[in-house]
Amino acid sequence: MNQIEVEAAQLPQQDGDSLRLSEGSHDIALFRVGDELRAIDNVCPHNGASLSDGWIEDGVVACPWHCWQFDTKNGECLSVTGCDVAVYPVEMQGDKAVITITPLSAKDNKPQRMDA
Ligand code: FES
Repeated sequence: MNQIEVEAAQLPQQDGDSLRLSEGSHDIALFRVGDELRAIDNVCPHNGASLSDGWIEDGVVACPWHCWQFDTKNGECLSVTGCDVAVYPVEMQGDKAVITITPLSAKDNKPQRMDA
């Protein structure tokens, strides 16, 4: 089981802050949403923008390129049906966050780039 560990000092601290993480072929966006840390695929399935560079409000991140919206809780794409992103479990272990690279959802399909 692959995991990424992030020290507390490096974690997103404020609501809406984000951090981009890489592990092998995985590119993950870690967000602070209130008291929670949420991890989703970082690559937007539309055209590949980095979702960690997007804007987040009420747990929904808007892609920085064309504003597709994704719910960071379950990876659902709120803009286009069937373009969801994977969600990864995040657990605090002592003073570190551990992101397990096994998706919580069945949406672990590789992002499919779509023409605009
Ligand atoms: S690349 Fe994300 S909405 Fe276009």
